[in-house]
Amino acid sequence: MKQLKLFLKDKKTWFDTAILEFLTEEKKALAVKPGMFFMLEAETLLKKPISVLDVDSRSGSLKFLIRRIGKGTSFLYDLKPGAELTAIGPSGNAFPDPEGRPVLLAGGGSGIPPMFFLSRILPKKTFHVVYGGQGKADIVPLFGKSIPHRITTDDGSLGLKGTVVKGIRKIMKDDPQFCKALLFSCGPEPMVKALTHAFPELNHYTSLERYMGCGFGVCLGCVVKTVNGIKRVCVDGPVFNTKDLGWNHGHED
Ligand SMILES: Cc1cc2nc3c(=O)[nH]c(=O)nc-3n(C[C@H](O)[C@H](O)[C@H](O)COP(=O)(O)OP(=O)(O)OC[C@H]3O[C@@H](n4cnc5c(N)ncnc54)[C@H](O)[C@@H]3O)c2cc1C
Ligand code: FES
Repeated sequence: MKQLKLFLKDKKTWFDTAILEFLTEEKKALAVKPGMFFMLEAETLLKKPISVLDVDSRSGSLKFLIRRIGKGTSFLYDLKPGAELTAIGPSGNAFPDPEGRPVLLAGGGSGIPPMFFLSRILPKKTFHVVYGGQGKADIVPLFGKSIPHRITTDDGSLGLKGTVVKGIRKIMKDDPQFCKALLFSCGPEPMVKALTHAFPELNHYTSLERYMGCGFGVCLGCVVKTVNGIKRVCVDGPVFNTKDLGWNHGHED
């Protein structure tokens, strides 16, 4: 984890979401793994934690998906190509290596970046993505036809009407290898808890979104209760097994 400069090369927008492609020469930043994040300068007192969407170590490119929510993310959304930012990272842990086992990748809204990143590196035919949102505007057209993925929207404006839970049930019905898959998720906490309760039998890892102050373990602004005591999401996570969070047993923080 170190401070680095990022140069904005390209930007695309989709309703309230922007995809920002930065360039960096920092080799350690380009060794980032799915689930890890950077603290990005955002014209606010505190930097903002943002997961990596994609990386290309040959061209030195790092991509992020930003959902415009408040002051910091709006600043990032409004950046123009040519802008320079300071960032700290890569920070946190990564999703474990499934080592060829089938894996379901469930992303909700701005929780999709680690799932997209995983879909770029996992072996073909071992994974299936479910991407959920409230409506069409929440679903950024990220996935090409070659990536097995299913879209779900609460209002039915795109893909299957319903939540990611419904999407996963459909995938399991169509391809039974996923009935015993690993489950990796990232998204709003109610979505992750719904997944945990719907599929308590699955080995489920989730990347937690918590408010962060420092991003490097000092301020205790991001703590979460686990069965192994209090943990800091920024340095002990953001990826946790839901069993360690106690969510599979109805013991929630
Ligand atoms: C490890 C990690 C990775 C993340 N990755 C991404 C990412 O890849 N892309 C992305 O867009 N965001 C991501 N986030 C969330 C992002 O950091 C927050 O949305 C951001 O800090 C909000 O800052 P802000 O200044 O825009 O809003 P603030 O001014 O801090 O908040 C504005 C309003 O939005 C509400 N709010 C803030 N954050 C959230 C939230 N997460 N969920 C629901 N309501 C919220 C607040 O309650 C407030 O009402 C990640 C968070 C974590 C912890
Ligand atoms: S954000 Fe400061 S300890 Fe985690």
